Amino acid sequence: MMHTDQNPYAPGSGVRPPLLAGRDEELGAFDDLVSRTAAGRPGRGVVLTGLRGVGKTVLLDRMRDRASDAGWLVVELEGRSRPSGRACVRRQLAHGLALAARRLRGRGMTSQAATALAAVRSFGVAFGWVSVDLGVEPAVGRADTGVAEIDLQETVEDLAPALTERGTALLVVVDEVQDVDLDLLGALLTVQHRAVQRGWPFFVTAAGLPNSPAVLCDARSYAGRMFAFRQVGPLSRTSAESALRDPARAAGVLWDDDAARVVLDAADGYPIHLQTFAACAWATAVDGGTITRADAEAGVERGQAELDAGFFPGWWDRASELEQQYLRRVARASGTAAAVATVDAAPASASGWASVRRSLCEKGLLFMPGPDRVALTVPRLDAFVDGQATPDEGG
Ligand SMILES: Nc1ncnc2c1ncn2[C@@H]1O[C@H](COP(=O)(O)OP(=O)(O)O)[C@@H](O)[C@H]1O
Ligand SMILES: [Mg+2]
Repeated sequence: MMHTDQNPYAPGSGVRPPLLAGRDEELGAFDDLVSRTAAGRPGRGVVLTGLRGVGKTVLLDRMRDRASDAGWLVVELEGRSRPSGRACVRRQLAHGLALAARRLRGRGMTSQAATALAAVRSFGVAFGWVSVDLGVEPAVGRADTGVAEIDLQETVEDLAPALTERGTALLVVVDEVQDVDLDLLGALLTVQHRAVQRGWPFFVTAAGLPNSPAVLCDARSYAGRMFAFRQVGPLSRTSAESALRDPARAAGVLWDDDAARVVLDAADGYPIHLQTFAACAWATAVDGGTITRADAEAGVERGQAELDAGFFPGWWDRASELEQQYLRRVARASGTAAAVATVDAAPASASGWASVRRSLCEKGLLFMPGPDRVALTVPRLDAFVDGQATPDEGG
């Protein structure tokens, strides 16, 4: 009997996989930043872009780990599309900066460290103070205007000497970067820009939907040159095979070739599908040492049912009925990316499709890969959409 408590697979958003397969190139881009910084050379933060469930968050986590291993201070942020997200992400920043800066107190308080902590404390007062004790008073007239761009810049400027003194750097990691409000995003980009010019050891590294480069460039026109952009796509067959087989082998379990083929074909390189199908096949298998073709087929079926009950509705249910009609039209037009003209050539809602499309982009369900093209952000949502009951669309 296969033990469920030994199931190595890790289905679910942001759940760390047993093996992060096929991302050496992306990790290399980040390692490059770390080693260049150590050598006193300028480097660029990384921006990962891709569809939902392709593995951006877990890759970003791995980069964060590498930064921590190198002794860097790390602050983590997550953009949110709801209006309340604005205050939330500011509080995350203030709190994260305070926790990170506290580590500067460690080896005796230098005057640089005292200056840095006072600025961080000021920033905390201006942006939702949290009860992290820094042992200093807020700096007077420093990082306390309440204007994100000014305060963040002054904070980083005051942190830089203390970071340099200790041979370390500050990394701000931003997930769902397309959802960070323009004001804060602009501030992060301006400060990154200044940091490059002045040699402050401060870096932003981010992940988001395929429209993220456009969002960054809208916020600051120079953003396009400031980062190493990497598209995160489905895994190659070889990487997917490692992601499937290696964790099982480590637990003394083998996938029959037929069984592996069934799961790999069904997942088609998408990590969320691969983890879900593999976990379900494992849970189905009865023979202690082998996963058979029958286990794999049952696993894919169960896995698909799990995705249909959780992952897909998680996105689908965010859309209003009218928006769901539009998503259906996109799915029907081609499955993945379609011409806006085709999708919109239908009896429009009273206000026209443009506003529906805009709202779907804001909710992160659609993006525009080109000026007149529209695409779903969730791979295979089209197949799920097909299975949903269709209300009368009146055309
Ligand atoms: N390189 C990879 N190899 C194996 N599994 C992965 C890989 N990247 C992601 N996964 C798995 O895929 C799922 C989705 O990952 P996640 O980082 O949440 O995607 P995203 O942030 O792009 O939506 C998780 O179950 C995760 O364990
Ligand atoms: Mg994610």
